[in-house]
Amino acid sequence: PRPILLTRHGESMDNVRGRIGGDSSLSESGQLYSRKLASFVEKRLKSERTASIWTSTLQRTILTAHPIIGFPKIQWRALDEINAGVCDGMTYDEIKKSKPEEYESRRKDKLRYRYPRGESYLDVIQRLEPVIIELERQRAPVVVIAHQAVLRALYAYFADKPLEEVPNIEIPLHTIIEIQMGVAGVQEKRYKLMD
Ligand code: F6P
Repeated sequence: PRPILLTRHGESMDNVRGRIGGDSSLSESGQLYSRKLASFVEKRLKSERTASIWTSTLQRTILTAHPIIGFPKIQWRALDEINAGVCDGMTYDEIKKSKPEEYESRRKDKLRYRYPRGESYLDVIQRLEPVIIELERQRAPVVVIAHQAVLRALYAYFADKPLEEVPNIEIPLHTIIEIQMGVAGVQEKRYKLMD
């Protein structure tokens, strides 16, 4: 069976500052993860004739893929992080203080809440459909380097998690989730490469 490896990008400067969205580069620790991920992927996929690396169009995923050599890389806009619209670049605390109604609406229904001029989880799930179709079609392994909200949606699809749980699934940084689709259903392994 063919593995699909899912991972968030290495820690970004915005992760360090607690800011959502944006297009920042990697922190030192994020850069270290990109190198550890590259050695992991090279070892794990050594025996495979083909494999590909999929990223979003945002710097933090492209930089995380950068040290991986020997496999084609594809950038998907559909893998970009949830668009936080008017809240892009803010911390959760800033949103709570300056847009309390927005903060409260999201807290009440994180799945359906759509950021003004941005997206909801349901929007993200919908735009991921072509990615999922293409992932299902692939016969070779794929490494998907993406973002928290996007990976919640992708993971929920493969692990068959209910829609309502999607916005709260835990997708930690610096961890690879390996999914294998076989006759016995879906198998999952997690590799934590760093603390
Ligand atoms: O904080 C990292 C991040 O990827 C943000 O860019 C994004 O808005 C957020 O996570 C999504 O997580 P949540 O839906 O829990 O706010």
